[in-house]
Amino acid sequence: MKESIFTDPFKKARQETGIGEMDDQNDPVAMILGHKEVRRAAHNWKSYSSGAIPGRIVIPSEVNIRSIRQIPFEVDPPQHGAYREVVEKWFKRPLEKKYEEELTLQIEALVIEVLEQDSFEVIHDFALVLQSQALTLLFNVPFEEAQTWISWGTHVFRSKDSALDGAKANVLYDYIDQKLAESSSNPGKDFYAVLLAAEVDGKKLSAEEAKGVLILTFAGGRDTVINAVTNSIAYFAEHPKSLEWLRKEPELLPTAIEELIRYFSPLTQMGRVATQDTMVCQHAVKADSRISLCWASANRDETVFENADEVVLDRKANPHVAFGFGTHNCLGATHARQVMKVLLRTLIAKVKSIDIHDAKDNIEDLGDFKRKVGFDSLTVKFNKI
Ligand code: HEM
Repeated sequence: MKESIFTDPFKKARQETGIGEMDDQNDPVAMILGHKEVRRAAHNWKSYSSGAIPGRIVIPSEVNIRSIRQIPFEVDPPQHGAYREVVEKWFKRPLEKKYEEELTLQIEALVIEVLEQDSFEVIHDFALVLQSQALTLLFNVPFEEAQTWISWGTHVFRSKDSALDGAKANVLYDYIDQKLAESSSNPGKDFYAVLLAAEVDGKKLSAEEAKGVLILTFAGGRDTVINAVTNSIAYFAEHPKSLEWLRKEPELLPTAIEELIRYFSPLTQMGRVATQDTMVCQHAVKADSRISLCWASANRDETVFENADEVVLDRKANPHVAFGFGTHNCLGATHARQVMKVLLRTLIAKVKSIDIHDAKDNIEDLGDFKRKVGFDSLTVKFNKI
């Protein structure tokens, strides 16, 4: 099978009932699969809340390893809006010229380095490094800090042996505590200082609230970006004509990036907790039970996307929901899009073609649904122009 094919395991259930069911640590989830229904439920925060106990809207649930609320992600309106306002401007900085220039220097240096190698493993030697280095720009901290983040591996809560690794999570929590303590005695011009100076409804953000924002920023933008980068490299390895096409028509880049993100949907789903008894797609949802907004399924909905299972780099209308929809749409999307833009721009400028030497899939086990979300490892060679 071609490495860059990402099948849609939800198709049958989406077409037949619109609902998928899975268990998650004895806390079942009714997965909403259709595009229209996902968008509708994402809007309806009164019935489908994000503000449940910390960790419960995440799948797999993190209730056993996390008691700190992630902000603004696990907060409902109207409080959500107040928190979001505090960080929204900071998360738009990737649009600044200097940010893009520095990102370009980082990514070009990485691509030049791997171009000299006979082969390299994309996730650990490239995507994780790229993601960590780029995040230093979002935090506005020294570039060298990336080394510490790289040492944590590809997921801050997961390890090889465990989908939810409490000990590993503690490494992140301790690190954040230390950085916040340093910042409160000696504030710099970084994200920590911005958070500690921020006020919500006339009150300073507490250290616990700042920590909630920081955990989310470290966790939310990690394996999502790593998968988007790695999967794109596998795609261009197997579609050299697409790489040529973008080389000839770089004005297509923004459209191509949206399409790759739709197709790969790096975040499969996100949960909500029902606040009352409701019905979704003729499926009864009990109060205090979990539903999920299955972005990956919605993005393959054939009633919305023509040739939904194909990558159409010049797809015109592309109302994908890979970055979420409505209230909680992804704050890191501006950064993620810039990372993808600079990466693809660098690839078309410097890489003639890509050979895959070895690949091992990363398959998410969602009960009846098995979804390829990326790779456990991908070894490739970049060929110079
Ligand atoms: C929210 C996907 C990158 C930070 C979301 C949501 C999705 C998503 C689907 C909505 C969650 C919900 O409705 O409950 C992605 C994908 C990414 C990506 C596919 C990469 C390709 C990032 C990055 C960061 C980030 C790089 C930060 C460094 C956030 C935050 C929220 C969020 C803070 C919560 C926003 C809120 O609650 O208002 N993301 N994300 N994400 N994402 Fe991302």
